Amino acid sequence: MGLKTLSEGLSDAIVDYVSSNPSSKANHENASQYLPGGNTRSVLYTSPFPLTFVSANGITLSSADGRTYLDFLGEYTAGLFGHSNERIKKAIQDVVESGWGFGGVGVWEGQLAKRICERFGIEKCRFTNSGTEANLMAIAVAKAILVFGGAYHGSVLAFPSVELQSPLNVPHEFIIGPYNDIKYIQSLQQDPTLTNDLAAILVEQMQGAGGCHAASLEFLRSLGKLADNTNSILIFDEVMTSRLHPGGLQSYHGIKPDMTTLGKYLAGGSSFGCFGGKEEIMRVFDGGRKDGGLVLSHSGTFNNNVISMKAGCVALEILTDDVLVKMNTLGEGMRRELNELCVKYGVQERMWVTGVGSLMALHFGERGEEEGLRDYVKLKNKDAEDLFWFWMVGNGVYLARRGFVALTIEHRKEHVERFLEVVEGFLKTWAHVLQ
Ligand SMILES: Cc1ncc(COP(=O)(O)O)c(C=O)c1O
Repeated sequence: MGLKTLSEGLSDAIVDYVSSNPSSKANHENASQYLPGGNTRSVLYTSPFPLTFVSANGITLSSADGRTYLDFLGEYTAGLFGHSNERIKKAIQDVVESGWGFGGVGVWEGQLAKRICERFGIEKCRFTNSGTEANLMAIAVAKAILVFGGAYHGSVLAFPSVELQSPLNVPHEFIIGPYNDIKYIQSLQQDPTLTNDLAAILVEQMQGAGGCHAASLEFLRSLGKLADNTNSILIFDEVMTSRLHPGGLQSYHGIKPDMTTLGKYLAGGSSFGCFGGKEEIMRVFDGGRKDGGLVLSHSGTFNNNVISMKAGCVALEILTDDVLVKMNTLGEGMRRELNELCVKYGVQERMWVTGVGSLMALHFGERGEEEGLRDYVKLKNKDAEDLFWFWMVGNGVYLARRGFVALTIEHRKEHVERFLEVVEGFLKTWAHVLQ
């Protein structure tokens, strides 16, 4: 009998998945009667249906079908502390005991702001409930905004490619440039029409949702220059990347943006967003401003929700530089070993891994090279990506369908070894369909 083809392998994997997860299937069908797509967070949809989880502990997830998974998704980076960190649990329990939803100021928001400002070198900040909202606030008063193809800054700020933005995007005037392309930025410097209108540049130093592609230092520096020359505000979206270095990726790169947006893990896994930066910008939100300057309102019922504020304070105590560096070092090693496995099986031009520290993405397709653009995916092989996901999940390892992996501070070498073992099993069985 000959080796199976990719499409045969994928059909078998789907049949297996459906028969192994009947409760998840039933839950999806029931929820679909009321929630379009059976869920309320589009990224979680996966065909034929997503797994339904009922509990989580450490880095283990338990599904409605009685299966357990090693979690390598880490709640798309928000779950940096794992699922049941004792200190965060205690912080939330304390809030449950002392009450929440004051409709007034609490003690924790000031303390969390202090910790965040000191950690990331931000002068003043405000909180929101999500990273999307943080970005919306950061660009709210800007007219034309330079963003980059492949960027995801939230559900109404999505730019899958230079040619394409989401029809749901907020109606700002967006100029979508190619990521990591210094020549493009230099050409903008010569364009006076743009120079007059450009108010902000919004960029991730590593595009997370866009495939864990890191910007070059030269590219980031060229953005700093463009911002200076056009008198526009440079905003680093560090919603995902702030976990990659103590002080965020901006401190690693040694570039100080005018504003920074944050979110995800910073409230210990509770809903959170934050935007902040220079005092001279943020002072417009000072309702008690005495100098007669502009005052703008930034309200939001849950901006200072006590659970997020208190859990955030504890989260930042837990996340010492040592803990953070250890997590990112583990990720560096994991990515290196994954790429070595791809080389070992001769598929490195068809399967490879990109990322920084504890965040990474596995790519399937044709690896291309373009001047100034590292790790370029020339042609995506969706079927191979899908087959890989079914293989991993079938072997008790959970990650995003698109191959995205986020480690947590609970991950250890033995968990990474298990991940590598399952990937090697995939390569032994399926390398022939990738070559
Ligand atoms: C870089 C980046 N910015 C903003 C967001 C939006 O954050 P939220 O999902 O909390 O709205 C995300 C979410 O994945 C993100 O990755």
